[in-house]
Amino acid sequence: MRIFAVSDIHIDYQENKEWMFQLSKTDFQQDVLLLGGDISDDLSLITACFQHLSRCFYKVFYVPGNHDIWDAKKRFNHSIAKFEFLLQLAQEHGVCTQREVVRATKSQAHTREQETIERIASLHHLEAVPESTGIVSALEEFGHDKGDTYTAFENGESGGVESFAGRKSEDSISDDAIEIVPLYSWYDFSFGEPAPTLRRNWMDFHRCHWPEEIKSEDDICDYFLSLNEENLYVSFHRVISFSHFLPRIDIMPSRIPQKHRIVYPVLGSVKLDEQLRKLGTDLHVYGHSHVQVDTSRDGIRYLNAALGYPSEYWLDKRMTLVAELGT
Ligand SMILES: [Fe+2]
Ligand SMILES: [Fe+2]
Repeated sequence: MRIFAVSDIHIDYQENKEWMFQLSKTDFQQDVLLLGGDISDDLSLITACFQHLSRCFYKVFYVPGNHDIWDAKKRFNHSIAKFEFLLQLAQEHGVCTQREVVRATKSQAHTREQETIERIASLHHLEAVPESTGIVSALEEFGHDKGDTYTAFENGESGGVESFAGRKSEDSISDDAIEIVPLYSWYDFSFGEPAPTLRRNWMDFHRCHWPEEIKSEDDICDYFLSLNEENLYVSFHRVISFSHFLPRIDIMPSRIPQKHRIVYPVLGSVKLDEQLRKLGTDLHVYGHSHVQVDTSRDGIRYLNAALGYPSEYWLDKRMTLVAELGT
């Protein structure tokens, strides 16, 4: 069993949608995928993504990203209602949203086929909400110039070309069983105060809406982090945790130009790092920044495996192999 990671697949973009649908339906039947959020804000696309990926992989784990809970047309009471809906939708498609130990077994392929049949039979019919998002995201707005080459790995290597649709990360974990811990999160400006331009243009401020009792980014972040509390106990196994947002800002490569650091306040929260240290994670996978990184800080390895927008052509457009079980 192999464990792959990818985030920010943004399948509103045709190229990215094609990338996803071209993933083999046979090559990953024994494998696990960590899907780190930002699929789309469009429910019909998210549903198609869950359907497709849960057929491609033995098991898919998912945490929602900020784009996923955008609700510009206010079809939900608030973005937390959409978040909860997405978790339920994921579960209905057999996509895991909770902590779980994964182990390699020989009978995986057979039981999986039966599970898929049962899952499809129990699916709720969703009201399709096809919409073209026409997203001009702030990340794009504040994103990279054409000449930028953040080709990824801080260690200087992006792994060799493999025979599968993924690159092998430096030092991938080998073990018999691994505990996967999805961590929900947001940003709380602990990475810096947002500049007025960011406050005006960051799309979450326009496309997310919150219950009345939530008054600030701090409240939003605390709400999502509170959902992790019951899962912060130490495991008997090695642990891979994953989130959409960043747990610390010093994992951003030092070469990022000052002008692009305007988005840093909305990248994550230091409190998320406190949580993953509490549960004793070995590797933390995250997304959101669209800057591929594989680095270590204070004894924990951090890895960003974002697919990113088609315009971010410098990103390695492959999943990252982060662990191999039973080898
Ligand atoms: Fe993204
Ligand atoms: Fe994001």
